[in-house]
Amino acid sequence: MNPLIQTELPVAEMPKRGSEKVFAVAPMIDWTDRHCRFLHRQLSSKALLYTEMVVADAIIHGPRERLLSYSPAEHPVALQIGGSDAGKLSEAIRIASDYGYDEINLNVGCPSDRVQSGTFGACLMREPAHVADLVSAMKQVSPVPVTVKCRIGVDDQDPAEILPDFVSRMLAAGADGIWIHARKAWLQGLSPKENREVPPLDYDLVHEIKRQNPGAFIGINGGITSLEQAAAHLTVMDGVMLGRAAYQNTSLLAGVDAMLAGEETPPVDWLALRDRMMDYAGQVIQGGGRLHHVTRHMVGLFLGYPGARRFRQILSSDAMSAGAGPELIAAAFAAVDLTGNTQLLTG
Ligand SMILES: Cc1cc2nc3c(=O)[nH]c(=O)nc-3n(C[C@H](O)[C@H](O)[C@H](O)COP(=O)(O)O)c2cc1C
Repeated sequence: MNPLIQTELPVAEMPKRGSEKVFAVAPMIDWTDRHCRFLHRQLSSKALLYTEMVVADAIIHGPRERLLSYSPAEHPVALQIGGSDAGKLSEAIRIASDYGYDEINLNVGCPSDRVQSGTFGACLMREPAHVADLVSAMKQVSPVPVTVKCRIGVDDQDPAEILPDFVSRMLAAGADGIWIHARKAWLQGLSPKENREVPPLDYDLVHEIKRQNPGAFIGINGGITSLEQAAAHLTVMDGVMLGRAAYQNTSLLAGVDAMLAGEETPPVDWLALRDRMMDYAGQVIQGGGRLHHVTRHMVGLFLGYPGARRFRQILSSDAMSAGAGPELIAAAFAAVDLTGNTQLLTG
């Protein structure tokens, strides 16, 4: 693991499967990189954080250290892998196991053209027997739990018909959990973005899958925008995964630990968070990175608060300039009225 970025923060425990409910931040390419995850961890010690999808071939042949290294403060963190070849997935997991991820997740939900051409991602929903073989190969080499993230179906598939079978096969192959994005992917004619918005959500079906599999970890994802909604899903489901809402309204994450404990959201010590992000950004810059690599993930912190616009401006445009340092983070926080901002936006 890259020793570059160290932190004093205690390493959080992996949320337990089975008994404890899990709140996860979804894997999102270009968004949930290590700097994003470091920020998210400052707001919740319990949330399970997913990496961006990393393709197995890239792990095998690409710049491993850049693709896989992360700060120990990010735990618990799950590595999402894309691929459809058992040998390559196994090799990628062997390589990744040196990096100490807490879980390996197979992407069976991503609809982009690039992913389709490599015959992996959501199109694998059509090949449950093959995906089951992938899962059992992954289980043989993975020292940590292996989970699958899937859709409820693709194109003209009938989700009520194919999803129970798909999930049973994954579990029989040894999958330690299934995250279900509660909408189909339409592989022809929709962009990846439209595929997160247009196909209708079917939460009832996903809840039903959980009821059919009382002993297995089944999590739900898709269109969940507040902690209240997350808590409602958790009355049925084992896990709830938020993507866009967690990223775009980051302060929502400050209520996660309390929500999981059934407690009221405590006030956030924004100044302490500011100082930790300044320290972290300083280390990133020292290691050859740019301030913007860190601050681009922070722009959603004060969504809806007075001063948020100026905060965003400073962190997005000013932080781009060459030589920009961590003091810009202090300037951005100074633009927000922090005294009135101990209360949280939860949706
Ligand atoms: C920018 C972006 C990138 C994404 N990249 C991935 C990815 O790498 N792997 C994956 O399984 N899903 C990916 N997704 C889908 C999310 O994980 C999630 O399933 C989807 O956004 C629905 O959840 P939400 O409504 O809470 O955002 C991505 C979504 C977004 C917005």
